[in-house]
Amino acid sequence: MLTPIILSGGAGTRLWPVSREAHPKPFMRIGDGKSLLMKTVERAQAVCGDCAPLIVTNRDYYLRSQNELASQEIKPQYLLEPVGRNTAPAIALAALWAAEQDPDACLLVMPADHLITDTVSFHKAAEHAATLARDGFLVLFGIRPTASETGYGYIEMGNQISQQANAVQRFVEKPDAATAIAYLERGNYVWNSGIFCFKASTILDALATYNPALYESARAVWNESKADGDKVDLHTSFSRLENISIDYAVMEMAKNIAVVPGDFGWSDMGAWSAVADVTPADENGNKVHGSDAIFIDSHNTYIDSKDRLVAAIGLENMVVIDTPDALLVAERSKSQEVRQVVSRLKASG
Ligand code: GDD
Ligand code: MG
Repeated sequence: MLTPIILSGGAGTRLWPVSREAHPKPFMRIGDGKSLLMKTVERAQAVCGDCAPLIVTNRDYYLRSQNELASQEIKPQYLLEPVGRNTAPAIALAALWAAEQDPDACLLVMPADHLITDTVSFHKAAEHAATLARDGFLVLFGIRPTASETGYGYIEMGNQISQQANAVQRFVEKPDAATAIAYLERGNYVWNSGIFCFKASTILDALATYNPALYESARAVWNESKADGDKVDLHTSFSRLENISIDYAVMEMAKNIAVVPGDFGWSDMGAWSAVADVTPADENGNKVHGSDAIFIDSHNTYIDSKDRLVAAIGLENMVVIDTPDALLVAERSKSQEVRQVVSRLKASG
């Protein structure tokens, strides 16, 4: 039995201007009209059966998540953060939550903002990951890289440890562009999908080893936190935990990591280039989401506009994202840099 843990806290700054604090990424509707959060919950159910998922999110998204998932028969549980502190604190508290019932509970940690088109293959990969997790591995799901993306973790695959899994030789979170190109060329690297499988006890031991300060303070937060119906309001001291991702806090250092390489139509909706990748193209590689667009002499260009007609002339490899109060025009390969726009907006208040 796998316990699904859904991380639904990030605002998704790289999908600005559509995702913002008022329109966070898990609630974005892509393709069939269902939100990314709903799709993740459905995927969790397909893999984990009737085990209620735990959604780790911030207090402001609680009612919205409950509404969004009102039609679900199996009601999720919620861990509510006073503020987001990145994935290591979120996962630490989720593991403490699970360990209270069963320290060896096997957790499947899934971001709420990914697309997976082949659920059957994902299910198989997750089942295999669970057997390795029960043996004490921290299990990653590897994706064959198609570009030198700098927004991902890179996993150097070591020896095969089972028919479907390899030991992890090295984990490098978000390498610089030159390093990413070198890894792509070497061929024995896969991307970290950001989905994890481990026992609660294994990840807690790893945190205690590699980041004892975070581990101890996460325990203290847990001891002060109160359950109330379907939610646990994490104590305000959560906001003092180190702001660090699980990739830096644990995965770059841990030795007992395995990777299950998978081909399950994964896409992290991490940047507009990834959203464009999963949108059907016309014969010139142009793609539209929302209302209509006119392309003249344009190629590989993605236009997203809800209300207005957008016309593009002579655009190559661009993304154009139109919203009522902000317009993004970017080179497709630079779509990771949108986070700089958000930082600048935040800095200017
Ligand atoms: N609850 C909660 N609280 N969730 C969070 C928080 C938080 O403070 N911060 C991030 N998340 C959620 C995000 O909503 C997302 O679903 C997931 O955790 C991962 O966070 P991102 O911020 O999107 O990470 P990333 O995309 O930069 O990098 C991670 O994912 C890549 C693949 O998409 C890493 O694991 C990389 O190694 C990986 O390649
Ligand atoms: Mg992401």
